[in-house]
Amino acid sequence: MKISGRTFIISGGASGLGRACVQDICTAGGNAAILDMNADLGSALVKEIGPSSSSAKFFACDVVDTANIASAVAEVAAWIKHTGKPLGGIIPAAGVGRPGLILDRNLNPVSIEAIDFVLGINLRGTLDLVRQALPHLAASPPDGPDGERGVVVMVASSAAFEGQMGQVAYAASKGAVASMTLPMARDLSRFGIRVVTIAPSMFDSAMTAVMSDKVKKGLEKAMEFPIRAGKPEEFSSLVKQIIENVMLNGVVIRLDGATRMPSKL
Ligand SMILES: NC(=O)c1ccc[n+]([C@@H]2O[C@H](COP(=O)([O-])OP(=O)(O)OC[C@H]3O[C@@H](n4cnc5c(N)ncnc54)[C@H](O)[C@@H]3O)[C@@H](O)[C@H]2O)c1
Repeated sequence: MKISGRTFIISGGASGLGRACVQDICTAGGNAAILDMNADLGSALVKEIGPSSSSAKFFACDVVDTANIASAVAEVAAWIKHTGKPLGGIIPAAGVGRPGLILDRNLNPVSIEAIDFVLGINLRGTLDLVRQALPHLAASPPDGPDGERGVVVMVASSAAFEGQMGQVAYAASKGAVASMTLPMARDLSRFGIRVVTIAPSMFDSAMTAVMSDKVKKGLEKAMEFPIRAGKPEEFSSLVKQIIENVMLNGVVIRLDGATRMPSKL
C-alpha cells in the first residue's frame, strides 16, 4: 500500500506515538485525519505540518462515545470526498494507563470506574473506531497487483505479555487488542484489508513523561539493547513499513529492544 495519495485515520494523533505517525504519513505524501480529544494539541500539529500537497486535519473525537466517533468518521469521509485521497488505513492509537492493584494492602479492590476507564478507551474505543471506519476502507479502490484496500495498525503494549504490578486493567485491554489481531485479519482478508498490531515497550511520550526517574531507571534494568526508551519516530517508522509491506498481516510485532518486563523493578 502506497502512503502517497491515501488518507489515514489516526486516533490519539495529537500526541506521542500517534503524533509521529501523523508526521511521517504527511511527509510520505498521505493525508492524516487526527481524531483526538485534545483540540489544542491537535490544532497545533495541523498548523505545524502546514499547507502542502499532503495535509493533516483535526477532528474532535472521544473514542468512548460511539456517536462522537460516528460524526468524526462522517466528517473524515466528507474530507476524503473533497480531497480525492481514499482511505488507506486506520491507526487507533488513543490510549491511557491508570495503574491500580487488583487488591491493595488494605483489602480494597481496584475500582470498577478505573477498570471501565482503561478498557473503555484502550479496548472498546479501539474496536469501535475500527468498526465504524471499516466500511469506508472497504469502499476504497483496490490498489496494486494484490488489490489491496488498506491496513489497520493497532497498538498493544509489552503489558499484553508481561504486565507489571498495578497493570491488570491495562494488560487486559492490551492483551485483548493483541488477541483481536488474527481474527480481524481473517474477517477482513476478503476485502483486501490487512491487520497488524504493534506492542511497544516504554516509549517517550506524554504517557511516560509522568513516570518518576526511579521507575524509569528500574525499567532500564529490564532492557537489553538499546538501554533507553523508544522514540516516537521509531514507532512510526514501523507503522510506515507495515503500511507499505503487503506481507505483514495478522501478526503482533513487539517493538521493545528485547525488553521483557520483570515481576518487580
Ligand atoms: N508510550 C509508551 O511507553 C507506550 C508503550 C506501550 C503502548 N503504548 C500505547 O501507545 C498508544 C499511544 O500512547 P502515547 O504513549 O503516545 O500516549 P500520549 O498520552 O502521548 O497520547 C495519547 C493520545 O490519546 C488521546 N486520547 C486519550 N483518551 C482519548 C479518548 N477518549 N478519545 C480520543 N483521544 C484520546 C490523548 O489526548 C493523546 O493525544 C496508547 O494506546 C498506549 O497505551 C504506549
